[in-house]
Amino acid sequence: MFRHRKSALLCASLTATMLATAALPAHAQGQAPAATAPATIAARSAGMEVAQAGMQMRVTALTDDILRVTIARDGTMPEDASWAVSPETRRQQARVTAAADGFATATMRVAFTDGRLVVTDPTGQVITQDAPDALKLDGPAFTLRKAMPQAEHYFGLGDKTGGLDRRGKSFVNWNTDAFGFSSADDPIYKSIPFFIGVGGAGGSYGIFLDNTWRTWFDFGHREEGVLSFGGPDGPIDYYIINGPSTAEVVRRYTDLTGKAPLTPQWALGYQQSRYSYMSADEVREVAGRLRAERVPTDVMWLDIDFQDRNRPFTVNTQTFPDLPGLIEDLADDGMKTITITDLHIAAAPNEGYTPYDTGAAGDHFLKRADGQTYVAPVWPGPSVFPEFTQESTRDWWGELFREQLDWGVAGAWNDMNEPAIFETPTKTMPLDNIHRIASDDFAPRTASHREMHNVYGMENTRATYDGLRALRPDQRAYVMTRASYAGGQRYSVTWTGDNTASWDHLKLSIQQIINLGLSGFSYSGADVSGFGGGPSADLLTRWFEIGAFYPVFRNHSAKGTPRVEPWVDGPEHLAIRRRYIEERYRLMPYLYGLAELNARTGDPILRPVFYDYPAALNAGCDQSWTFTVGGAMLVAPPPRPESPAAYDVCLPAGGWYDYWTGMPVQAPEAARGDEPILSATQATGGTRAAGITISETPRLDHLPIFVRAGTILPRQAVVQSLSETPEGPLMLDVYPGDDCRGTLYADDGQSMAFQQNGYLRQELTCTVTPEGVSIDIGARQGRFDPWWRQIAVTVHGWDGAATVRQGRTALNSRSDAATRTVTFTTDAPRRATTITVGRD
Ligand code: GLC
Repeated sequence: MFRHRKSALLCASLTATMLATAALPAHAQGQAPAATAPATIAARSAGMEVAQAGMQMRVTALTDDILRVTIARDGTMPEDASWAVSPETRRQQARVTAAADGFATATMRVAFTDGRLVVTDPTGQVITQDAPDALKLDGPAFTLRKAMPQAEHYFGLGDKTGGLDRRGKSFVNWNTDAFGFSSADDPIYKSIPFFIGVGGAGGSYGIFLDNTWRTWFDFGHREEGVLSFGGPDGPIDYYIINGPSTAEVVRRYTDLTGKAPLTPQWALGYQQSRYSYMSADEVREVAGRLRAERVPTDVMWLDIDFQDRNRPFTVNTQTFPDLPGLIEDLADDGMKTITITDLHIAAAPNEGYTPYDTGAAGDHFLKRADGQTYVAPVWPGPSVFPEFTQESTRDWWGELFREQLDWGVAGAWNDMNEPAIFETPTKTMPLDNIHRIASDDFAPRTASHREMHNVYGMENTRATYDGLRALRPDQRAYVMTRASYAGGQRYSVTWTGDNTASWDHLKLSIQQIINLGLSGFSYSGADVSGFGGGPSADLLTRWFEIGAFYPVFRNHSAKGTPRVEPWVDGPEHLAIRRRYIEERYRLMPYLYGLAELNARTGDPILRPVFYDYPAALNAGCDQSWTFTVGGAMLVAPPPRPESPAAYDVCLPAGGWYDYWTGMPVQAPEAARGDEPILSATQATGGTRAAGITISETPRLDHLPIFVRAGTILPRQAVVQSLSETPEGPLMLDVYPGDDCRGTLYADDGQSMAFQQNGYLRQELTCTVTPEGVSIDIGARQGRFDPWWRQIAVTVHGWDGAATVRQGRTALNSRSDAATRTVTFTTDAPRRATTITVGRD
């Protein structure tokens, strides 16, 4: 536990009077806080230590672009341990150059000037700097204050509500079972104390406060021009992450807190769930109907009612008499089964309930302050709660999944892990409950629930993930969670909890998924349809269209609400919904490539437009839920989703094609800034003029989607599940333009063989030439033999006849004036090859 000053407010303005004679950089000049006491700045390996008025601050460069800032209490630095950042990562040290007022890395200048920590880029542009009165201590509580430039916008903090941009708002991190939350409620399920500042002079940067207590962030809500954050207790331990691009911040944040493991491919398919399908018969009926209606589907989810009296790791054998048989039959039909396993274990001694008996025998359950085992009501009635902060408890928990895996269960759903407790206004357990910490490089100790609350859900998923991996070391593990903390992406995907069937929530879902993606969780979704309430037919159809682009695409709804499977509103709605689900399956080679990219780099699958097009931040259109899939596909739903009014879509500079027609998007006459990508008679090359604004009129059966000029998009034929081999060739749609590229990635979709060369990657590029277009397909990397034998190429924006050559060989091609395309097929190349498409 932390020992802290009992004294009242201590306002420590860190003023470096000793540096009064040092030349201040222009940005640091201005209002200097009143001098309190002289500061000393001592160089340390990879950083510096600042001491002033009994305060000690250490700044360490882990890498050129990641700084760790720790502040001592009563002369003691916080324990160097973390649930989010691994010991190896924390031990990194960059090479720095010391200066009188601080130090420099290759890309950042870190100074303590005028009582403030100031981080600039090498040209002196401020990345982030303290505000006056940078640190306030009030007993155990602390507040850190940073300057908040006018131009800056803020993103991250996981799936918090309140719109896309956090500017002007205030948030609390406290994992909460927020059933029926509104689009402004805070806190909800997760705590990810990490945000990204975008738009400032020094470029994008991130701040991650690694503190599991009930921390808070305020983006100029309480005090204009001041960004502050803090907590009621716990370590003052935060990281400053340099960009300058937003993408670099996200990549570095996931260097720090870990990458999400590569998903099994089937988890990118459509997933069907309900609270609850009440019997095996009902599951078979729904699965059968999905197949009969030809709705591609990869996963069926079983919610709590498949269990005996809601007890985790049991089965209701009345209603699910042969669960292994059901799972096998679904598997034969190309569907995986995921079961819910909540963390609460029924307090059922002497009933032959193994999870309780073994847990009690191993002393794995949490204690109250008085030392008795804590028992409280959740779904199973009186329940006990595992000590996930002990490694031994995590090992015990992981082993409990053995039977389910033997039955063929493909993944685990960890819910209620805020943890949710019934029949109490706090919705969670007493804050003085006692956790035991015996994990990682933490010194073994006890800790109050106050400290462990926000990290409890993540450690639940860690136990599950590690358990699944240990039980099936050759398979990728799939875990979905509701609660988590920073770094939780290492163990699980997530969804946004108990949302509501409303247009507002549909829009919110994209904002949440965007912010989750910027906070490390690339894999997330929201319940398609809204969990509570019940959607109108139109809302449900729109939700399917948009959900088809969620990284996790799952239809789920609450007991007592109208059914929301794809067919519920009749054939016309079903046809639209099916078309969007099919489109997702067509895009699977692209989506899976993005998943693999995410596993390596941290780049999210679903992104805000400014992630790849920084100018979009101030584009002028309402982009509050416009998004891209992997940067190359821009999806522009109506900004007011319930309104029939026409709306503007801002397309960033560089040229775009309409995904549905394949045609280049022309600027409206009045505002023509871009030339067509390939002019009618001559290839001109993609232009990089200013972006264009076009008008869209909402139509229920249409979601406007655009592809960046300069994209090679791999697609496949529709399958009913990803266990099927697509028929025909791999399709490559070439949208000519500048910096034209794409990637082919494939592996077996479920094993770990990709880590041992069991993958295929080919880089694709294209160049617009005076004669036409030249397409380069790189040599195959990796040893995996993909399903396709041929590739079918469509070049868009093409007019007139074409001559296609691959080396010396002429390929047959077909030009189509109506669609402005030229198409041809060739054997899937193994070696690097160039295909030229020229005008006749
Ligand atoms: C929680 C979950 C919901 C689930 C229900 C029953 O409310 O958020 O998704 O269906 O519990 O398990």
